[in-house]
Amino acid sequence: CGIIGCVGRGDETLDVLVEGLSKLEYRGYDSAGVALSDGQIDVNVVKRAGELDALREALSEQSVSGRVGIGHTRWSTHGPPTDENAHPHTDCTGSVAVVHNGIIENYDDLREELETSGHEFRSDTDTEVVPHLVEEKLAAGAPPEAAFRAAVERLSGSFALVCVVASEEAVFAARQDSPLVLGVGDDSYYLGSDVPAFLAHTDRVVYLDDGEFATLRPSGWTVRNGDDERVEKSVETVDWNVEDTGKSGYDHYMLKEIHEQPRALRQCLSGRVDERRGEVTLSELEGLETPSAVHLVACGTSYHAALYGVQLFHSLGIPAQAFLASEYATGVPPLGDSLVVGITQSGETADTLSALREARARGARTLAVTNVVGSTAARECDYALYIRAGPEIGVAATKTFSSQLVSLNLLVEYLAGDQRSSEERRAVLQTLRDLPGRVQQVLDESMAEEVAAEYLGADGYFFIGRGLNYPVALEGALKFKEITYEHAEGFAAGELKHGTLALVTENTPVFAVVTGEDAPAKKTLGNVREVESRGAPVIAVTDDDQIERYADASLRVPSGSARVAPVLVNVQLQLVAYWVANALGRSIDKPRNLAKSVTVE
Ligand code: G6P
Repeated sequence: CGIIGCVGRGDETLDVLVEGLSKLEYRGYDSAGVALSDGQIDVNVVKRAGELDALREALSEQSVSGRVGIGHTRWSTHGPPTDENAHPHTDCTGSVAVVHNGIIENYDDLREELETSGHEFRSDTDTEVVPHLVEEKLAAGAPPEAAFRAAVERLSGSFALVCVVASEEAVFAARQDSPLVLGVGDDSYYLGSDVPAFLAHTDRVVYLDDGEFATLRPSGWTVRNGDDERVEKSVETVDWNVEDTGKSGYDHYMLKEIHEQPRALRQCLSGRVDERRGEVTLSELEGLETPSAVHLVACGTSYHAALYGVQLFHSLGIPAQAFLASEYATGVPPLGDSLVVGITQSGETADTLSALREARARGARTLAVTNVVGSTAARECDYALYIRAGPEIGVAATKTFSSQLVSLNLLVEYLAGDQRSSEERRAVLQTLRDLPGRVQQVLDESMAEEVAAEYLGADGYFFIGRGLNYPVALEGALKFKEITYEHAEGFAAGELKHGTLALVTENTPVFAVVTGEDAPAKKTLGNVREVESRGAPVIAVTDDDQIERYADASLRVPSGSARVAPVLVNVQLQLVAYWVANALGRSIDKPRNLAKSVTVE
């Protein structure tokens, strides 16, 4: 989602907001809206589902004015893209308007409390609790800034929140685990989820930190911390050109999205995991019973997530199979009373939709695991589990794959019922909670750029892994092919010797994914020796010092749970593919012949 806020532009406020929203378009969105306050009586809100043009049209039909304002482009996480669910959201009196990025974890409890005390809600969003909370504080006599602060103090979760109220010419903001930047102009001040929102007006910025509150008035701006003390923030100058803006300073969307993975995973877990009680809450799956068998259907990268998912279901004792969607649709296997799970980032891939339709026509229950609320897969399936990765612009899937793996973990834990002791479940959930931090560690410490430079110009590249690491070996090779245009193949570690070993030479580097210290890792080590003795350079992607010793180079991941190691390993493999493609000057965000979503069979 995208946020813009503006103070000090008088009658130009509306134009500044709409222009800011247009600069945020690259993020992808399904609805947009603005709220303007005249600082005396009114907050005017206009919002529409759909493209920015729908909002522009609505604005051309009514006169909206105000001297301060906020705007938002939404990517749905709670509730479908409708006018009501679009931001800004308002309170009952219509004198408070709020835009929000992130997820408010305790919104169910807050909504219940507010409804009991008479507040009426108009949307399905988590955000709407915020204006109602501010309204309560205002009604109790708090001035607007204090009312906003007190409302925010009631929230748990991740948020960038920006608010206007009717009675004051000001914009109030708070940040917790979701980006928010303040723009400092000469006599005007801005807020943006990202610098491009206001870059046309100022290149001087203040990066807000978690737990901070900002207040913007025509007379100036202040930032205060969680203890309500004033914080001296430094004003930095950004040197982005307009072309770079959508990429937040990264050279490519793909690299930006690789780096967004810790945040994407936090969003995926937000409000769904209570590791202390060992509980998973997936409200969208209410009523779904534990299936006796599962078919997972998907294409491309999503198919690799399906292969990973199969092994998770097996660990529960539930028979599961992964199918390439295109094959499933042309020859549906015996279904029994299997639950059919379609994994599709876009929710629009024709092969996957067709497989799901075939399954439905034969009476199966269907579940879509998707990133797009309201997509065809989400609408047509009996259930939809949202992976909440946020929009992905690069054609090669990166953060959505990680979010699919984490979502499958949540799904399996949700369905596990009594099969897991609460201790076991607590351990799994703790591992998931720790994962975003570990992904960040991989990003911070990765040597992938150096490894990529070292092995440029090889005849071909092999990727091997066993068990849960087999799907990421396949994914590592697919990512490599997609963006470098070099030949790469992924194999189950034990299978390479059954034929393809004939291709292994001193000029075919082998990326060996080996995590954990159990029997599978030892066996993979045997496979590493096989390729080494044919002279192939081996790059270990591993959490184990011992294994590093057998390799020519290594890419480290933090040690810990074997179950989530594939997510960490995959980040390294994404980075290797990226840096090789970059060195070769490839069209990384739009590789030749490929499309983000393939809507033909
Ligand atoms: C296209 C993309 C792939 C993607 C596949 C499935 O082929 O190029 O990157 O993995 O579609 O997409 P989906 O949206 O169904 O996950």
